Amino acid sequence: MSIAQKADPASDSPFLDGSPQMRGIRTVIENIGDTDVTVLIRGESGVGKDLVARALHAASSRRRGPFIKVNCAAIPQDLLESELFGHEKGAFTGAHRRKPGQFEYASKGTIYLDEIAELPLALQAKLLHVLQDFRFNRVGGHEPLEVDMRVIAATNRNLEEAMAGGAFREDLYYRLNVVEIKVPPLRERREEIPELASRFLARFNAQYGRQKQLRPKTLARLTEHTWPGNVRELENVIRRLVVLEDGELAIEALATRGRNGHCSGPRPSFPEGLREVGRRGAREAERKVLAEVLERVTWNRAEAARILQVSYKTLLTKIAECGLTPPRHR
Ligand SMILES: Nc1ncnc2c1ncn2[C@@H]1O[C@H](COP(=O)(O)OP(=O)(O)OP(=O)(O)O)[C@@H](O)[C@H]1O
Ligand SMILES: [Mg+2]
Repeated sequence: MSIAQKADPASDSPFLDGSPQMRGIRTVIENIGDTDVTVLIRGESGVGKDLVARALHAASSRRRGPFIKVNCAAIPQDLLESELFGHEKGAFTGAHRRKPGQFEYASKGTIYLDEIAELPLALQAKLLHVLQDFRFNRVGGHEPLEVDMRVIAATNRNLEEAMAGGAFREDLYYRLNVVEIKVPPLRERREEIPELASRFLARFNAQYGRQKQLRPKTLARLTEHTWPGNVRELENVIRRLVVLEDGELAIEALATRGRNGHCSGPRPSFPEGLREVGRRGAREAERKVLAEVLERVTWNRAEAARILQVSYKTLLTKIAECGLTPPRHR
């Protein structure tokens, strides 16, 4: 199946391409599908870089091989080398046995190096060697291993600035940047918002057993918002709309572009007394945090009580007050 077919909004593909910019990206993905060129994906946080990386893998001749994601920012720097390259038994204190690295696991597939700007300089040098001859040593190893993989890297940082400041190697930059894909921020492809929103609405309605709808006024507000958090922010706003009874209020409160292009909040109107506004705000804030924490800990109430620093009994009372129910009971 071609990826253009997979992009059909009616299909189950998570990757939508409802704007000329995203269709351009899809064309690039298709064009380089059967090559092993290294790709650098750039764009603000939440624009969909991970989805582009997965689509690249799915469109490549390696699609039956593994897709290994390594988030260079999420792994402590002193563990990163062994995580990527693996280590031999006794390579360092605590290396009780040989451990393969992610490069080995990516054999015959794709390795996706997310947040590449966070890679320490010493590892940048080592990665450069891997990209040059597709051979590397495990930490403490002397037998070079060959690796057959495609490398995709991503960052939301300004690599040119990092290079100028000496934090990113120029030679590595050029090695990675054989093909560069820039994913534009959501505010530059607003035409995608209605389709993305209705996708997320359908998904969360199904997930939480709700039948929420988007009113035209709400949709208008969504298309006007500047979305500093990009698609991830939109996804979270729709999730909130679905789980909260008065979720539309959160959307009302979204900042929009003013006439002169600057951000502004909605024009305030105060039909109720200040005290009631305060009470309602506190209730909403409580319910929002409660729902988010419960979801994060998959409704482990003891864990949620610990995170929220309330007693177990108080937590149960709050859950009941807010009318929250676990997804499977809805
Ligand atoms: N075109 C799209 N179609 C459907 N969902 C999307 C699209 N783009 C992004 N998303 C959703 O938005 C969220 C953020 O996307 P993703 O994780 O790919 O962003 P990112 O650019 O990698 O962000 P970060 O820089 O923070 O890692 C994900 O849940 C993803 O499923
Ligand atoms: Mg990402």
